Amino acid sequence: MPDRLDLPAGFRWGVSTAAYQIEGAVDEGGRGPSVWDVFAARPGAVRDAHTGRVACDHYHRYTEDIALMRGLGLDGYRFSIAWPRVQPTGAGPANPAGLDFYDRLVDAQLAAGITPLPTLFHWDLPQALEEEGGWLARDTAHRFADYTALVVDRLGDRVPAWITLNEPFVHMVYGYALGIHAPGRALMLDALPAAHHQLLGHGLAAAVLREHGREVMIANNLTPVWPASEADEDVAAAAAYDALHNRLFTDPLLLGSYPDLSAFGVGADLGGCVRPGDLELVAGPGLDGLGVNYYNPTRIGAPTDPGLPFAEAPIEGVPRTAFGWPVVPDGLRELLVGLRKSYGTALPPVTITENGCSVADELGPDGTVPDRPRIDYLAGHLDALAEAVAEGVDVRGYFTWSLLDNFEWAEGFTQRFGLVHVDFDTQRRTPKASYTWYRDLIVAHRTCRTR
Ligand code: FCB
Repeated sequence: MPDRLDLPAGFRWGVSTAAYQIEGAVDEGGRGPSVWDVFAARPGAVRDAHTGRVACDHYHRYTEDIALMRGLGLDGYRFSIAWPRVQPTGAGPANPAGLDFYDRLVDAQLAAGITPLPTLFHWDLPQALEEEGGWLARDTAHRFADYTALVVDRLGDRVPAWITLNEPFVHMVYGYALGIHAPGRALMLDALPAAHHQLLGHGLAAAVLREHGREVMIANNLTPVWPASEADEDVAAAAAYDALHNRLFTDPLLLGSYPDLSAFGVGADLGGCVRPGDLELVAGPGLDGLGVNYYNPTRIGAPTDPGLPFAEAPIEGVPRTAFGWPVVPDGLRELLVGLRKSYGTALPPVTITENGCSVADELGPDGTVPDRPRIDYLAGHLDALAEAVAEGVDVRGYFTWSLLDNFEWAEGFTQRFGLVHVDFDTQRRTPKASYTWYRDLIVAHRTCRTR
């Protein structure tokens, strides 16, 4: 059986973060308010009334954080750019102090031998745009392309590849359908325009990136979907869920069409928001790479609620993370092999842009954080990744979520995903056992691949 040390030569090792989850400094450098500032201030929206006001204070401590990355020996760093730092109201000229921050961040990475892999949108829309309809408004897609141009004009000379959006599925469902993330809209299926407009924004931004000769990627949250049984109703429900979670955000990019959403009572124009020519814009000449964020599979059975054509069923008999998410490393192999089967030669090279787990980590009296469950999680998923590669899937890199414990959205600071422990009172960073393990793995992989 192949294992993680068999991953190909030149395989890229990285970590991922996102602006609102780590930066803090929400009122500094001319940054405007984002939907997450407003949402987190709503009573009851975020656990324990936590907010990203300070988070990991990365805005001021990025030098220390990049030193931690250098210590890991990383090839790449996936971070996100906060749109409201660059354009405080989501329109008009760039805020120079905002771009200056990312300019310094990019240069500091390059000086540490790390290639920057920025994400242009990781859920922190300028609040002013939300007031105009957010991603339900078609114009937001055009605003996103304008913002992209401002950023790539400034950083494109040093940044070869860009991720447009992070997890448009999760943003649509949590933010617009269920209202458990910003902007807190609970529209159920009326949230679908937020899918199309994000994808249209991707297509328009991709064209800008290509004009600058830069590579284009997206980071999709994908999950293998398991029918709860072989019964026809469960199999049909699983297919409907797969269309919504996976295919809705991947088919238009790779095949130039939307999947069949008739189980949701929705036609190919997604309730009227798709205009002639849009799908050509969304697909463009294709992606240079597909970013895959994988956490767990999803088990789906026949509906129990008349409003939806599926119901989620529990996955039994597997370990769980502190978040309660099932731990199924082989799901990553299954997902990747399934992508290759579904899309064939239309599948571009894949990079794992997120994978990791929350652990109830505590800093011990001896100053160590022995996060064995995280090491086991990462080792298992990397072995599964190596198997997918051995089965013919072209995977170019792995970016673990996350460098630091951080603001985990509606869970506030209660879910720790970092290789590095953060004391949120003192901002003290302490590398966990998994940090040392990941560093040693990177060295071992490079050594055996260059021998
Ligand atoms: C993903 C998000 C990321 C982080 C992880 C745990 O869905 O993209 O920001 O919260 O989950």
